[in-house]
Amino acid sequence: MSDERRKLIAGNWKMNGLVDTSVMEIKDLAARASKIDTPACDILICPPATLLREMARISLDSPVQIGGQDCHPNEKGAHTGDISAEMVKDAGGKFCIVGHSERRADHGESNETVRAKAEAAHRTGLIAIVCVGETLEERDAGKTLDVITDQVRNSLPAAATAANTVIAYEPVWAIGTGKTPTADDVKAVHAHIRKDLAGLMNDSGRVRLLYGGSVKGSNAAELMAVENVDGALVGGASLKAEDFWPIVNTCI
Ligand code: PGA
Repeated sequence: MSDERRKLIAGNWKMNGLVDTSVMEIKDLAARASKIDTPACDILICPPATLLREMARISLDSPVQIGGQDCHPNEKGAHTGDISAEMVKDAGGKFCIVGHSERRADHGESNETVRAKAEAAHRTGLIAIVCVGETLEERDAGKTLDVITDQVRNSLPAAATAANTVIAYEPVWAIGTGKTPTADDVKAVHAHIRKDLAGLMNDSGRVRLLYGGSVKGSNAAELMAVENVDGALVGGASLKAEDFWPIVNTCI
């Protein structure tokens, strides 16, 4: 079986976007993507839940796909303020980010919670983007690879496959800071994740491993060329189509 992996450039809008400006940006992005005959990579935007349906509607006939930023493990019930994987799918989502470091930190999400959310995504047919990454303190203590191993082993559902799961390596200290690890550092962590996955999944060679943390137009080509980097998870630089497009363009 070939280990050919189609790159995925994913935008995470986080808690940004009101209808007016977001409609403009998604139309702009969809128009740019639609001009490419057969895009060589997958293009994804994960807007806040309030915009899911509208963004999915607008991008429907374009190569741009839509995903959620989080989901509750349960299908429905008394969980005020949460949304389920079924709701993300119902609104037009195809993917769902789970275990982003902002949720792990702000909402105290453990690996077990993240795994339950990834299972929920799988239950409803969404591709789970499972995020892992070390803090600066952990990096400085030389614990990066141990932390990543622990997160990967314990956040992935037993039924994870290359078809239903993507892993995003996002060093916490690189998110929103303008700092990035060196290409060699990224290469080492991605190789480590690939090796760990071999013990967990039959099709580990085909799982897409994204890098995230201060990816922008000016550093995307270098990062996307790193061995075992199969795409990017982009925050700040995904909010405007004109900033996001140069990143997509490195893979298209
Ligand atoms: P950033 O965020 O690109 O703004 O650093 C990345 C992320 O949190 O996914």
